Amino acid sequence: MMKKIAVYPGTFDPITNGHLDIVFRALEFVDKLVIAILVNPEKSPLFTVRERMEFIRKVVPADDRIEIDQFHGLLVDYVKKKGARSILRGLRAVSDFDYEFQMALMNRRLESTIETIFLVPAEKYTYVSSRLVKEIASLGGSVKGLVPTEVEERMKEKFHRKKGIKI
Ligand code: PNS
Repeated sequence: MMKKIAVYPGTFDPITNGHLDIVFRALEFVDKLVIAILVNPEKSPLFTVRERMEFIRKVVPADDRIEIDQFHGLLVDYVKKKGARSILRGLRAVSDFDYEFQMALMNRRLESTIETIFLVPAEKYTYVSSRLVKEIASLGGSVKGLVPTEVEERMKEKFHRKKGIKI
């Protein structure tokens, strides 16, 4: 039987508990999950790709079904290269819908054999985003419970060192 491989792409700057929730839900029905960080030279992330990969490695469970990787270029090309048939995305609220719908249809236009699967996180994470978490942490607010503890600590350190960072 063919393995059900899904790619969970994103910026993950940084990974939040909402992302993690999606990972756990996906593991209920995929044989393999590739968490793939987009290397985007046009964005100036808070954490390097290496740091973001390290966080993910630390916080996802040790499971042979999970691979952590990075990619650049078109997502559909990467998905094909990994032998996957589906793209996994989290859908938190209606506000996510426009962007996600557009991306899913564009990806289908580029590669009709690849499906996008949307998963809804637990309600308590529906308002959590990497962007807000960075904003709160940069202003000295608590992000406890929104990101894994390791990430929380590293964010504190980072903002302590880099006062006045732009988000
Ligand atoms: O976590 P994000 O920033 O919402 O993730 C966006 C991501 C990485 C899924 C998206 O930007 C992407 O797939 N980029 C790769 C380039 C690409 O394929 N663009 C066309 C998408 S329709």
